[in-house]
Amino acid sequence: MDVMTDGQTPETSAPAQPAPQPGDQPLESRGSNRSQRPDSRAFTEFITSGWGPRPATTAAPSPAAPYTAVRRARLGAQFPGARVVVPAGSFKVRSNDTDYRFRPHSAFAHLTGLGAEQEPDAVLVLHPVDDAHGDAPGGEDGEAVTSATHRAVLYVRPLAGRDTEEFFSDSRYGEFWVGARPTLDDLASVTGIETAHLDGLRDALAKDVGEGGVQLLVVPDADETVEAVVEEIRAAEDAGLTDARLAEALSELRLLKDEHEVAQMREAVDATIAGFAEVVRALPRATAHRRGERVIESTFGAHAREEGNAVGYETIAASGEHATTLHWTDNDGQVRAGELVLVDAGVEVDSLYTADVTRTLPVDGTFTDVQRRVYQAVLDAADAAFAVAVPGNRFRDVHAAAMEVIAARLGEWGLLPVPVEEALSPEGQQHRRWMVHGTSHHLGLDVHDCALARRELYLDAVIEPGMVFTIEPGLYFKSDDLLVPEEYRGIGVRIEDDVLITADGNENLSAALPRRPDDVEAWMAGLLG
Ligand code: GLY
Ligand code: MN
Ligand code: MN
Repeated sequence: MDVMTDGQTPETSAPAQPAPQPGDQPLESRGSNRSQRPDSRAFTEFITSGWGPRPATTAAPSPAAPYTAVRRARLGAQFPGARVVVPAGSFKVRSNDTDYRFRPHSAFAHLTGLGAEQEPDAVLVLHPVDDAHGDAPGGEDGEAVTSATHRAVLYVRPLAGRDTEEFFSDSRYGEFWVGARPTLDDLASVTGIETAHLDGLRDALAKDVGEGGVQLLVVPDADETVEAVVEEIRAAEDAGLTDARLAEALSELRLLKDEHEVAQMREAVDATIAGFAEVVRALPRATAHRRGERVIESTFGAHAREEGNAVGYETIAASGEHATTLHWTDNDGQVRAGELVLVDAGVEVDSLYTADVTRTLPVDGTFTDVQRRVYQAVLDAADAAFAVAVPGNRFRDVHAAAMEVIAARLGEWGLLPVPVEEALSPEGQQHRRWMVHGTSHHLGLDVHDCALARRELYLDAVIEPGMVFTIEPGLYFKSDDLLVPEEYRGIGVRIEDDVLITADGNENLSAALPRRPDDVEAWMAGLLG
């Protein structure tokens, strides 16, 4: 209610407003119509003065730094003589002057070790240092050369002084609004990479391009401003190596995880397992809520924000029939006793590595006979996949092993219109009606990691120690599927684990989260009391 101080009606008290004149103020300045910023000289002098000195950097080197140097060297070796541009990216607008939380491009995170919200607009550049082109810009100290072929420089927007207008008035970058950015020294110390002001980026990119023989490559779709600068610089130049080749190389660079990455994956998986326990504890609240799936989603999401950076992808909380929609992320349904609820969720840790785990749980803690039968079939498929996910086999063998079990069970249940062997042949594939997705994908900084790798290095690749991928078979019977007996309809089951390939086999990183039906029931009973 409006507060009236003089007892008059609004009609008689309000002064007459001039009729609005459309178009008399540029649209881009209208955001300032909602509040008034002081602009007196006295205010500016006052707010920019009287602050204590900033401490010298105390930023400790990241434990990732030695590993990122090796990654940069491996990438550089594939592009001798080329200048490689890897932007972190910029803010994405959520609505008018409000942005989404910043997350750097995964290739940038992989090569710098920066994670969480670091660092908007930063650009990593690998300058070629071969004999033909001499030193890269600014380079004379040998220490900063990270490889035989390139010198890495991180161009960043450093912390603005408190004597600048940005300090107090810029809601996107200003220290008053979003906190102090790291300094050039801070970032050099953390990453082990030479740093430079972003203002020098354009000239640094242009040096020796074209006549000078340096080719410029940029990661596609990471930062449209940086991409436009690159396009302008190389406009007249012969294409040669393409940006697509760079994107492919960056993806393939992540096919084998180093020990630092494996440690990060373990942290992500462990935090995810703890998140699933929180979800089970929240089930009584979920069943009592009209949108119980949201209770599950928000429970896991809160845990992910508290223990990590965020969820690594949108959580799937799918109860009953919703579980038959593979990427059900509306999560606005009820959660009912007697149903199964499929929860596909992963914590992304601060370094941006994510887990990707699915459990299908009986809402009231006990599987019915038919739920257990379907669940066991999926579990057997997963176990068959685990058995062949070992060095020397091919990545595609993992899916094939799971499909043999799925097809066999569907055959036993009388659901296949053809013999199992015919279904498993390339000309058949009828069993895929009930599992249209693949069994495995690489996992890491992206939930679907290494997505741009060539087929011969992905699906057709020989499995090697250091690979981390999912095993996630499922069976999904829609409620209006007339080709399955009624008792199966509306049941969807997926079991998803994260596997690390070792020298002599594999390790299920998510093994601590129960997956056998009896173990699931016992675990839930323990949590629900
Ligand atoms: N969460 C998506 C997937 O399992 O691939
Ligand atoms: Mn998943
Ligand atoms: Mn997955």
